[in-house]
Amino acid sequence: MTLTPITMKRPLCGRQVGAIGLGCMSFGGIYGSTTRDESLACLSAAHDLGMDHLDVAEIYGMGLSEEIIGEWLRRTNAPVTLATKAGIYPHPSRDFRNDEASVRASLEGSLKRLGRDHVELFYIHRRDQRIPVEDVMGTLGKFIDEGKIGAIGLSEVAPSTIRRAHAAHPVAAVQSEYSLWTRQPELGVLQTCRELGITFVAFSPVGRGIFADSFPKREDFPEGDFRTANPRFMEPNYAANRAIIAGFQDFCRARGWSTAAAAIAWTLDQGDDILPIPGTRTAKNLADCAQADRIRFTDEDRTEIARLLPVGFAHGDRYSDVQIVGVERYC
Ligand SMILES: NC(=O)c1ccc[n+]([C@@H]2O[C@H](COP(=O)([O-])OP(=O)(O)OC[C@H]3O[C@@H](n4cnc5c(N)ncnc54)[C@H](OP(=O)(O)O)[C@@H]3O)[C@@H](O)[C@H]2O)c1
Repeated sequence: MTLTPITMKRPLCGRQVGAIGLGCMSFGGIYGSTTRDESLACLSAAHDLGMDHLDVAEIYGMGLSEEIIGEWLRRTNAPVTLATKAGIYPHPSRDFRNDEASVRASLEGSLKRLGRDHVELFYIHRRDQRIPVEDVMGTLGKFIDEGKIGAIGLSEVAPSTIRRAHAAHPVAAVQSEYSLWTRQPELGVLQTCRELGITFVAFSPVGRGIFADSFPKREDFPEGDFRTANPRFMEPNYAANRAIIAGFQDFCRARGWSTAAAAIAWTLDQGDDILPIPGTRTAKNLADCAQADRIRFTDEDRTEIARLLPVGFAHGDRYSDVQIVGVERYC
């Protein structure tokens, strides 16, 4: 497979990184099984494609995604901007903790698995509403002083939290779901990040697989697949969503673009401070995602995309009532 490196860059933690990062959640099997070798090949493809920003979290595969990245880094010593996250604790029952002892233990575990003495970016994965965000920033500021993390990120937070946090200590990145069918960040988060000079990291830009050339089949979802219980992938919503998105697939096909690449290109087109992180298990699909780097929309394309997929077109919420717990809600 010939891999042409991406050319676009985006700012992250005071440096310029490839405009499309790699989300490594899928190495943990959330959207179907995979192998260590396939994940390692995916990381090598990311390197060849100039996708030097890797996004992971302690909780992805309960450390497995980090372990695989650690193994790959030991083998290759590749220069990457590495981001990991802490704050979600699944045992004994799902909880969100931001106290220093919990977050420090998580960070130490992540560094061990990654084989690093620091990460460039460390996110609070979900806010713990029992602790003022100013105190959490104080904890993370200590980690910076200790040289364990380079910069601070927040995930799934409200604009008011971003402002309070940033006033206490600079925030480098905010991460939330953002794609053609999830537009909520446009209601304040993107504007706040832009005003404060914070990079916005767009997760699930392929809509957890819906913006592929062919639709994921519910019957192929393995046990534990996140989408099994996700409202947008449950009937009758799923059929309605497929019917709408089929028009976008045709539009992409007619222009010679893969649907996934066009969906990622759409996030890139929303601002040069937006950094999408598609997730995939395979080098092949990653190379396909990288094609987004070469897509340039005309104004006619933008109008047509807005007609085919108008804001709010999706049937069903992006999370179920269980999946949304911990996400800061503000509108
Ligand atoms: N902060 C948070 O709370 C949070 C939440 C979710 C995700 N994230 C981060 O965001 C990253 C991306 O999220 P995501 O994995 O949901 O993103 P996504 O890329 O929107 O969805 C992944 C799904 O799309 C499929 N896919 C990706 N590229 C494709 C292509 N070119 N052609 C066909 N299918 C394709 C994948 O299947 P294949 O594996 O078969 O390619 C997988 O099923 C995660 O890895 C994680 O790092 C963060």
